[in-house]
Amino acid sequence: MNARFFQNGDRNLALIKDESGRTQLTFGVNFLPMPPAVVGLMLRLAAVSPNDTVYDLGCGDGRIVIECAKTYGARAVGFDYDPRLIQQATENARNANVGSLVRFERCDLFDVSLCEATVVTLYLSPTINSHLGRKLLRELRPGSRVVSCVFEMGDWRPDKTEIFEGLPVHLWSIPNK
Ligand SMILES: C[S@@+](CC[C@H](N)C(=O)[O-])C[C@H]1O[C@@H](n2cnc3c(N)ncnc32)[C@H](O)[C@@H]1O
Repeated sequence: MNARFFQNGDRNLALIKDESGRTQLTFGVNFLPMPPAVVGLMLRLAAVSPNDTVYDLGCGDGRIVIECAKTYGARAVGFDYDPRLIQQATENARNANVGSLVRFERCDLFDVSLCEATVVTLYLSPTINSHLGRKLLRELRPGSRVVSCVFEMGDWRPDKTEIFEGLPVHLWSIPNK
């Protein structure tokens, strides 16, 4: 199975090819900001510290990335394919005075090299998460943490799940290779 995600006007779309070679066009994930308390829960669950480099795949307005730098002193990078959100995130980071700890890039999250990340944060969809699983296992170092709001990672069994106001947050640790 492989997938390509792209934008058409205001719509995020996904072109997915399954094992039998059939191609399907479905909707991708649009921006839905995470409530601030859930951002805090994600970063506490991942035990983010100043030693970490956090990648938020699908960063929206940059709130997770900015919080990593502001509260935890961590380096953080946000990736999103929507140029307006990248612009908004860059402006929000400037207003939050988080300086060079944060960076934003406009790109498809499947094209991001993850080898520098020690923590990956996700608030995407079950389809995207299950496509991402193999990439995370291949590119992240053992001991790196993955946290996902709401959606699990296919058949990965979470190390921990906490629920805040009905929203589950799951944590996994990348095993030794
Ligand atoms: C539900 S929002 C989460 C935003 C942010 N992480 C937060 O928690 O507030 C999902 C974001 O992922 C972005 N996105 C979805 N698919 C993407 C892809 N293939 N590549 C890059 N960004 C993507 C959307 O543009 C949207 O901003």
